Amino acid sequence: MKENDFIYESNQVVEGQVKWIAPSNIALVKYWGKKNVQLPENPSISFTLSNSITNTEVIYSLKKRKKEFVDFDYFFEGNPKKEFDIKIQLFFNRIQKYVPWIKNFYFKINSNNSFPHSSGIASSASFMASLSLCLMDIEKNIFPEMKLDYFNNKASFLSRLGSGSASRSIKGPICIWGSSPSLKNSNDYYAVELGRNIHDVFKSYRDTILIIDDKKKKISSSKGHDLMKNHPFSNQRIIQSNENFDSLIHILKTGDLESFIKIVELEALSLHALMMTSNPSYILIKPETLNAINKIVDFRETTKTPICFTLDAGPNLHLLYPENFSSKVLDFINSELKIHCKKGKFILDKVGDGARKI
Ligand code: PMV
Repeated sequence: MKENDFIYESNQVVEGQVKWIAPSNIALVKYWGKKNVQLPENPSISFTLSNSITNTEVIYSLKKRKKEFVDFDYFFEGNPKKEFDIKIQLFFNRIQKYVPWIKNFYFKINSNNSFPHSSGIASSASFMASLSLCLMDIEKNIFPEMKLDYFNNKASFLSRLGSGSASRSIKGPICIWGSSPSLKNSNDYYAVELGRNIHDVFKSYRDTILIIDDKKKKISSSKGHDLMKNHPFSNQRIIQSNENFDSLIHILKTGDLESFIKIVELEALSLHALMMTSNPSYILIKPETLNAINKIVDFRETTKTPICFTLDAGPNLHLLYPENFSSKVLDFINSELKIHCKKGKFILDKVGDGARKI
């Protein structure tokens, strides 16, 4: 589909309410650096999660207040959250071209997360995905002939304009966003599923998130993406991420865990190395992140457990391992890693199938 195929216009529907749940996702090959409006510099791959979700309700009615821009009120866990209004307004401005009908409506948006408030887990991916699905549901009420593929692809397309990684939070268990010469249907505009042709071990993979620090990070992901523009290693990063992408696509089919671990950890550390070598440079990992990493690597070597870690743009560690190692890993977390977590907090999650309507 081309960019303009994503535009529909009508205003026959008057009011209603829609509710969607969308999960967070964890990138295995990281998207870092963007061009134009939220298009990635490199292809990325992620596991869709199951338990870390955002639940969003949109109550819509034809607009009464005279406003040029999209009219909405946003409530997080029942309370207004002004700092998020700017993000949502920017999102609406960006998507208006593709959903022109939104300017005729007033939206009351209510959302809440399954993960605790200050857990340091970014909710923008799951929130933008659930909000986009709500909007697509309204668009489907206006245009009932809409096909399911169009619905999902456009939900991903819209979410991308809110937060790039949100494009990968619509489907599961593995999503790909960004065009790669080695994957025919991959593209920069919306995420696609890797498909069912993945090794069984990855269909039930576990992700336990160690909350090392729960404070808001000092440098946002948007700023980090910007810093890739004049980064001395940006060209090399594009080459590296494409190579890692190609290798991982193969690994996800064959189930080669040793190679999986190598690539996933290399990606996590490369992401943070890029932050440390940008201008200005910055560090998001904490001493406790490194202490935990050293223990994870030792544990893997001494017990031959196929566990690895990854990081998103923050200090918290995602531990990835096959389901049948769950109890062994849980014992290890309780005895060795919990002490590195803020107030001993960690979140048990696993690979999931994507968003759902409620
Ligand atoms: O979607 P954004 O703009 O929050 O960027 C996400 C960047 C990483 O989490 C570091 C990597 C990724 O692909 O999710």
